Amino acid sequence: MSRAMTWWLSLVPLFFVLGSFASPPSWGSSAIPFSPGFDISAVLSLAISLPSHSWEFGTAAEALLELYDAPYSVYGEKPFPIPRLSPSSSSPVYSTALDYAKQKIVIGTPPNGLSDGDGAVGDPASLGVAALLLGVSDEKYKVAVEAEIEYLLEGAPRWSNEAISHRAAYAELWADFMYMAPPFMAYYGAVTSNATVLRAAVDQCHLYHQVLLTNTTSYSANPPSMHPPSAGGLWVHIVGPENADPGLWSTGNAWAAAGMMRVLATVLKAPRATFKAGSALSSAWRHTAIADLTRMISDILDAAIRLQPQAQAEGYGGGGKRKGASEELPR
Ligand SMILES: *[C@@H]1O[C@H](CO)[C@@H](O)[C@H](O)[C@H]1NC(C)=O
Ligand SMILES: *[C@@H]1O[C@H](CO)[C@@H](O)[C@H](O)[C@H]1NC(C)=O
Repeated sequence: MSRAMTWWLSLVPLFFVLGSFASPPSWGSSAIPFSPGFDISAVLSLAISLPSHSWEFGTAAEALLELYDAPYSVYGEKPFPIPRLSPSSSSPVYSTALDYAKQKIVIGTPPNGLSDGDGAVGDPASLGVAALLLGVSDEKYKVAVEAEIEYLLEGAPRWSNEAISHRAAYAELWADFMYMAPPFMAYYGAVTSNATVLRAAVDQCHLYHQVLLTNTTSYSANPPSMHPPSAGGLWVHIVGPENADPGLWSTGNAWAAAGMMRVLATVLKAPRATFKAGSALSSAWRHTAIADLTRMISDILDAAIRLQPQAQAEGYGGGGKRKGASEELPR
């Protein structure tokens, strides 16, 4: 995964390439009822037109689902059992997100089971939620999803603490993984009432947290690998042998928090039968998972808010800055 995602948000939209899609709604429409304080339809246009990588396709498909089919996303009131939605614009249950995802998903062999992952384990998995929804009426997506889950659980390299590697050729943990794979695993678990996979999704949040949580010291902070206590709760970008990056990449922290948010929402909405007495997941497990996820997410958000004045003073968020040091939270 590259860091290209961030500059979608800061680019001035020059032109829109929407293909077969109608103009995205602007705020005030039912898809976007609130004004976020910026032109969200311009952001959406770029999110549809710019992607060329599996993780971008998956992220855009998720954004479309949450906007256009909000009741069916995990943030909806009752997303399970999953509905029958159609990628066909002539259908009464047409879904823009599935139309988009169907055009982007290329079924192959895991880790490239849903799209070419360019060496990543996690990135093609980001299309898994859309693939599961397509699988309701098209068996081939269901088969591809099963293979992708099987690969995540059994095939991918693991870190020494059993965290699933973000890279396919060697074990390496990237904060980005958190938005790409665990939400899909959790969703699969809830959709198929597979407690093992739902639990694995929550376990992966803990395992990534264990490795990527930044080291802090009140003694002699030595960035980028050692940070002062004010950075406590934030995650480093990458730990591993090839691409190690001990910096506190702000977008990486957002990937981690937003990924865990989707896992949390999935645990909250999963059919209650999954947590019955005698099931592999008790309601005590559910209670603990909710508390733990909430704490790990809050820790990231609290630290980001705490460090924001310093970040602004150093030019972060000043508009137009794309990436690099300016995108790094201060140490
Ligand atoms: C849960 O899913 C995994 C991975 O597909 C599979 O190996 C396992 O048999 C499933 N368990 C149940 C109870 O369906
Ligand atoms: C924290 O420090 C330990 C010991 O030096 C190191 O093994 C670990 O990778 C560090 N963790 C992070 C996230 O930098």
